[in-house]
Amino acid sequence: MDDLNAETVTQAALQQMAATPDPRLRQVMASLVRHLHDFAREVTLTPEEWLTAIRFLTEVGHCCSPVRQEFILLSDVLGLSALVNAQHVADAAPGGTEASLLGPFFRADAPLLEAGAQIARDPGAPELLLHGRVTDTAGQPIAGARIDVWQTSATGLYDLQVADAAMDLRGAFQTDAEGRFHFRTVQPLGYQIPMDGPVGRLARAQGRHGYRPAHIHFLIGAPGYQELVTALYFAEDPHIDSDMVFGVARALVVSPVARDPAAPIQGMASLRYDFALAPAAGHGSQRVGADPASLQPA
Ligand SMILES: [Fe+2]
Repeated sequence: MDDLNAETVTQAALQQMAATPDPRLRQVMASLVRHLHDFAREVTLTPEEWLTAIRFLTEVGHCCSPVRQEFILLSDVLGLSALVNAQHVADAAPGGTEASLLGPFFRADAPLLEAGAQIARDPGAPELLLHGRVTDTAGQPIAGARIDVWQTSATGLYDLQVADAAMDLRGAFQTDAEGRFHFRTVQPLGYQIPMDGPVGRLARAQGRHGYRPAHIHFLIGAPGYQELVTALYFAEDPHIDSDMVFGVARALVVSPVARDPAAPIQGMASLRYDFALAPAAGHGSQRVGADPASLQPA
């Protein structure tokens, strides 16, 4: 046998994995090993740095709980979640509304509410009406689509981030026969990603502000259509051009209007947005991220 060195070890590792029966696992792992080895050679990774990285990843794992997913956060701040989302959606949902990140604060068990309901238990700020339609890519209404919404409060916290984590600032709605929906909420506040863990420490070491611009998350599904995971971002937010997790797209930037005579509830600012769902194409879920509780080890 030949002695391995910093160059030949790559080929040796690839050879040992070459008989992997699952072709996709074989392809993904071979590429991962090639890039990891190239990376270590490019930066001349030292044993101390490698150990620092192992400690960091261990800490990221320990930081995960039923209500916090530090690995998703790490993927988000590296731009990997946005990249996976972008390349998946480009071919999975042509003509549909642009997708955005699911993020770590989705809860699968949000209550189904009546049209027009207020999703904040205690609004504590001026109400904001959201309304619009869900259609197919030809503009035909989709009746009975389920719309899950979730957002931060006017002080920038999700319900999962307050002491009792009781369900708040989220809910599910169903479109009517014309594909219409409407609900009341409050203007969300932009927020810093959780900065008290290893990912936040890394962000500070990189001199990054850590903020996401104010937004409202949407997950919209109907039988026969590709599930849409997206968010609407508020144009006036100071971090609209420097989202910490790269989720903003121009088509998803919105501004409420003070008065809209066509809005289904009057007397408050409102925001109209129409969503288009692409036909189901068998591409599986486009959820980048998940209910944190669903990622807990058994
Ligand atoms: Fe969010």
